[in-house]
Amino acid sequence: MFYEPRKKNHGLPKNPFNSLVIPRPIGWISSIDKHGVHNLAPYSFFNAVSYSPPTVMFSSGVGIADDKTKDSARNVEASGEFVCNLSTWDTREQMNKSSATLPPETDEIALTGLTPIDSMLISVPRIAEAPVNLECKYLKTVEIPGWNEGDVYKVLFGEVIGIHINDDFITDEGLIDITKMKPIGRLGYNDYARVDVDSSFTLVRPP
Ligand SMILES: Cc1cc2nc3c(=O)[nH]c(=O)nc-3n(C[C@H](O)[C@H](O)[C@H](O)COP(=O)(O)O)c2cc1C
Repeated sequence: MFYEPRKKNHGLPKNPFNSLVIPRPIGWISSIDKHGVHNLAPYSFFNAVSYSPPTVMFSSGVGIADDKTKDSARNVEASGEFVCNLSTWDTREQMNKSSATLPPETDEIALTGLTPIDSMLISVPRIAEAPVNLECKYLKTVEIPGWNEGDVYKVLFGEVIGIHINDDFITDEGLIDITKMKPIGRLGYNDYARVDVDSSFTLVRPP
């Protein structure tokens, strides 16, 4: 089949786009608002975009608040900081729970029962249960106009200025034990993929 997204002529019961760019890493973003309320939400329009400096981005769609902005994007733009926590098999239920649409005054870390702990370089807490936490300094937002009048996708970029790795996930050879971490990725619909020993493999790159 072939279709043109602007013509919405895929003829399928659901928009297939989310099922075609897969699996997507999940940026599990912690942030704080101007009153110090903790916020936590998963973003799968997320990725690392450069190496030196290490830089990540996440894209926030339209929110339900008056400013039509989701809490994470509003908080990061106002405070200039966020933490990207690695989402894994062990915390999948809490990750999902943290995607609930809630008013900004709700502490979503408390809601999930996860443990907020201090970051080293920024005032936003990180999630203790996540094996990796990236402390990020906000860089800039690129706005993508939505199809509906007034809708905007905000793509927020941040430089990773501090990285925490749980030592239990570093092998004796000094490598990251990814299959032990069991990170999860977003597929389409409500489906996910898990990285483990059975689903990962090695390819040596040609010279
Ligand atoms: C796995 C997963 C990935 C998600 N990815 C995105 C995304 O990339 N962009 C987005 O706007 N919402 C995404 N959502 C929905 C947000 O998590 C949800 O709107 C959440 O309430 C936003 O929280 P906030 O307002 O506290 O930032 C995702 C939800 C799930 C479960």
